[in-house]
Amino acid sequence: MSSLDAAMTPEEFRRDGHALIDWIASYRAGVEQYPVLSKSSPGSILEALPASAPELPGDVTAILEDVETHLLPGIAHWQSPNWFGYFPSNSSEPSVLGDLLSSGLGVQGMLWSTSPACTELEMRMLDWTAEALGLPAHFRFDAPGPGGGVIQDTASSAVLACMVAAREQATGGVGNSQGLSQGSSPLVAYASAQSHSSIEKSARICGIGSRNLRLIETDEHLAMDPLALASVMNKDIADGCRPFFISATLGTTGTGAFDPLDSIAPLAKEHGCWLHVDAAMFGTAALCEEHRWMHAGVDQADSWSFNPHKWMGVTFDCSCLWLKDASLLVDSMSIMPEYLRNKATDSGGVVDYRDWHVQLGRRFRSLKLWFLYRVVGLEGLRAMVRKHVEITRELASWIEETDGFALAAPASLTLACFRHEAGDEATRAIMEAVNASGSMSLTHCEVGGRFVLRLAIGQWGTTRDHVRRGWDQISSVAKEVTSS
Ligand SMILES: Cc1ncc(COP(=O)(O)O)c(C=O)c1O
Repeated sequence: MSSLDAAMTPEEFRRDGHALIDWIASYRAGVEQYPVLSKSSPGSILEALPASAPELPGDVTAILEDVETHLLPGIAHWQSPNWFGYFPSNSSEPSVLGDLLSSGLGVQGMLWSTSPACTELEMRMLDWTAEALGLPAHFRFDAPGPGGGVIQDTASSAVLACMVAAREQATGGVGNSQGLSQGSSPLVAYASAQSHSSIEKSARICGIGSRNLRLIETDEHLAMDPLALASVMNKDIADGCRPFFISATLGTTGTGAFDPLDSIAPLAKEHGCWLHVDAAMFGTAALCEEHRWMHAGVDQADSWSFNPHKWMGVTFDCSCLWLKDASLLVDSMSIMPEYLRNKATDSGGVVDYRDWHVQLGRRFRSLKLWFLYRVVGLEGLRAMVRKHVEITRELASWIEETDGFALAAPASLTLACFRHEAGDEATRAIMEAVNASGSMSLTHCEVGGRFVLRLAIGQWGTTRDHVRRGWDQISSVAKEVTSS
């Protein structure tokens, strides 16, 4: 029981900590027993929770009982090997431990001086990761030049930060100091019609506006068409607009398409645009040499980001962002109130990560990466990538061989998109039936105006057997749906 002086005694903390880790370990070992998606109705969890906070102290055992009774029914089990929806959000055990240590240390690393280890481990982790992915040396701190990397919470924040830096570069700092003036040439950004909605959100937030984001048409692979990009840019310039930012996606959310970075990069250079690369899900594949074809053109990129919190096993949230010239980002984000002044910052010799994103305060997130690398090793991560890519290849062949089904887009590294020939309604009914069964999760997207199912492989526990069973179920549900 807690007292007001200390929320828990060290003994209580140890005892309850063990109980919690035991609970988590059992949950994860038995995660397959739960329906993958929650069957809760809106408001049902809310109703089960007391309307006010307790006045008196309680204990962790009672909280864990409530987790089981009230929260578990409202959980979508992202760590289930039958999770095939959206993209995975792998929370590997080593990174959970790193996260726990981060909480336990309770560090707030906004400045180098507020915990040098927080900043310097992060710098080292970003260098390790850039090297492991085969990214250009100029993104690393340990190479000569102004490059470096940072952990952002999400890919959305990463692109927002880069768009702000690009805006300031394009306006010579006027955006920050004066605001974007109505009279000057509108700044225009570009991304493919299949790009993630976070690009448009960034354009809205940083004052560019949705109307000045051009969503470029895609080719037969659903990748950005560079000829279309060139022609839209030329028209914009003729109309008095100012291209300033291009985001290329390596692995789109809908179908996993790869924009041709090597054809887009020369256009960015010709028009003086910032070139950002969003490799949120499939950047992880670059751990393996055989997938580094995606790096063609990367030398020209100003920024490159991916989410270790998707496929790579780092518990949410962890999005890595590298910049060829980090000073452009720092200059656009830096504000120095007196209360943050300190000798280390004034010396100019340290990295203060508060200047690399919107928020001031920051957690010790790099511990999650450090634990992952040290426990699993790069070889372990590469084996995981290869396993999932291999299973996806098999899945694509099963889809093609099954009567009534067709791939709706070329299968990507670990994502297969398909539909049933009976039409959109039948395809939707199949998804709803398998999701309602509780034995897997599937999500959908739209391709060419058609309703399409996405089966995303990448949860760490997923084996060929899980996917085979999943596909057999989809096939048999399809027979029921189309015969009724
Ligand atoms: C290609 C791509 N970019 C960006 C995002 C947004 O990721 P986050 O949730 O980290 O902002 C996603 C999410 O799935 C994505 O697939």
